[in-house]
Amino acid sequence: MIFPPVLEQTVQIVSNERDADAYFRLVLRAPHIAPLIQPGQFAHVRIPPLKDALLRRPFSIFQVADDTFSILYKTVGKGTEALSRMRPDDALSVIAPLGHGFTVPAAGGETPLLVAGGYGMAAMYLLAERSPQTGVVFVGGRRRVDILCEREFAALGWEVRATTEDGSHGEKGLVTQPLLATLRTPHSAPRTPKLFACGPTPMLKAVGKIAEDFHLPAELSMDEHMCCGTGVCLTCVIPVKTAEGWEYQRTCTEGPVFDARKIAWAAAK
Ligand SMILES: Cc1cc2nc3c(=O)[nH]c(=O)nc-3n(C[C@H](O)[C@H](O)[C@H](O)COP(=O)(O)OP(=O)(O)OC[C@H]3O[C@@H](n4cnc5c(N)ncnc54)[C@H](O)[C@@H]3O)c2cc1C
Ligand code: FES
Repeated sequence: MIFPPVLEQTVQIVSNERDADAYFRLVLRAPHIAPLIQPGQFAHVRIPPLKDALLRRPFSIFQVADDTFSILYKTVGKGTEALSRMRPDDALSVIAPLGHGFTVPAAGGETPLLVAGGYGMAAMYLLAERSPQTGVVFVGGRRRVDILCEREFAALGWEVRATTEDGSHGEKGLVTQPLLATLRTPHSAPRTPKLFACGPTPMLKAVGKIAEDFHLPAELSMDEHMCCGTGVCLTCVIPVKTAEGWEYQRTCTEGPVFDARKIAWAAAK
C-alpha cells in the first residue's frame, strides 16, 4: 500500500473566531500541508494548554486557501474549550493531512447528494468545492445554530436543504426526511445520484440504509474516537465486510471515509 504524504508541523494560528454559539473557525498557516489536502481528510491537533496535551484531537479539514487551511469546530469538552481560547500567532502542532477521504465525482458523472449533521458540514465543503458538478446538500441539526455554512454552499451554486429537530430553521425533522422525499419523487431525483455523508453515527447508519434500499452508491465519513490518529493504537476500529465475513479496520487510516456497502453494522459495538 502506498501512503499519501503526511506531515507533522508546528503551525501558526491566523485567526480563531466564534462562528455561532459553540462553533469556532480556526485558520492555520500551513504552506507545506495545504496543497496536499484532499476532501474528507482530517488534521490531528495537539492543543498545548491541555495538561494531557500529548493526546491530539481530530478535526476535518474544512477549507483550504493558498497557504492556509481551516477547521470548523464545536466546543464540547476540555480540548475544544482550550482550543477556543488560543489566539492569532499562537503555535499548534498538527499532523495532516490524515486519512482516506471522499472520492470527488468525475466530470459529467454522478450527481452528488451530500448529507451532513452539525459539524459534519465541515468535512463536506472541499468535496462540494472540488466537484465538477453541483448537487444538493442536506444539512441537519438540533437547532438553528447547528446549521452551518449554508451561505458558503449556496455561493458554490449548491442547493441547500436545511432541517432542524426543533423546527427553528428549515424543515422540522431529521435530515434524512428531505433526502428520502427527493429520492422518492421521480421528477426531482437526479438520474445518477451518489450519497456522501458525515455526521453522528445514527445518521450515517440511516443514510447507509437509504443507499441500500435505493441501490445507490454512498460514502460515509465515520466519527469514531481516536487516540494516535496514525494507525497504531487501534482505538478507532469499525467492522468492515470481507469475503470471509468481516474484520476490524482503522477509521484513521483506512477511513474515515468508507464505502457504505462495506460497513458491517450488525457487528458494530
Ligand atoms: C475524523 C474526525 C473528524 C472530526 N471533525 C470534527 C470537526 O470538523 N469539527 C468538530 O467540532 N469536531 C470534529 N470531530 C470531533 C472532535 O474530534 C471531538 O469533538 C473532540 O476530539 C473533542 O475533544 P474535547 O477534548 O473537547 O472533548 P472531550 O473532553 O475529549 O470529550 C467531550 C465530549 O465529546 C465527545 N467526543 C470526543 N470525541 C468525539 C468524537 N470523535 N465524536 C463525537 N464525540 C466525541 C466525548 O465523548 C465527550 O462526550 C471529529 C472527529 C473525528 C474522529
Ligand atoms: S486512532 Fe490509533 S489506530 Fe486509529
